[in-house]
Amino acid sequence: MRTEPYTFGLPSGTFIPENYDNHIERRLTDMKGQYLDQDAYRAMLDQKDTLLYEVYEFKRPEVAGELLHGISIVHPGKVGSEYFMTKGHFHSVLETGEIYYCLQGQGVMVMETPEGEWAVEELRPGRVLYVLPRWAHRSVNTGQDEDLITFFVYPGDAGHDYGTIEQKGFRKLIVDGGDEAFSVIDNPRWGNADS
Ligand code: F6R
Ligand code: ZN
Repeated sequence: MRTEPYTFGLPSGTFIPENYDNHIERRLTDMKGQYLDQDAYRAMLDQKDTLLYEVYEFKRPEVAGELLHGISIVHPGKVGSEYFMTKGHFHSVLETGEIYYCLQGQGVMVMETPEGEWAVEELRPGRVLYVLPRWAHRSVNTGQDEDLITFFVYPGDAGHDYGTIEQKGFRKLIVDGGDEAFSVIDNPRWGNADS
């Protein structure tokens, strides 16, 4: 782990940071129960366990005062009519905010609170998104053929609660909008996504 202040470059073209510490890959199998069209999900999985998104992290102590940061890359594609997306999570310390800065691509952040509020904000290059404390968040690539690339930063002691979303899903889904760029629809399986 670095013990002195540091900088890192984000090479144009890939935005894969120089000297990252950790590379995470998430595939179709990691999204079991999350896509609405389960037939399309199974048919796709039969072909290949497609890579949906990747995260490049810098290692920092997971304590208050530190800021965890890295790059998230969601690849383009759909399962049925639903776009490739991240698992999404609440932070274990619910009262935790997070900043995302979009570097490339077109997408949205789907967000919701335990109290039932929801929001969908567009991500496009040069836009900064503040995810308020208490809001679960999932990034979705609504682009045709380009990666959705964001830089993220959040408090070191935040932790992640993936279980709530794995069990319930998000209240809103982002699907192909036909003539529109995308559509936001109610998740008919909200409450029992993993069954
Ligand atoms: C960290 C954060 C992002 C995500 C990344 C992948 O708190 O929000 O770094 O971790 O975009 O998404 P998940 O973690 O939902 O698989
Ligand atoms: Zn987060």
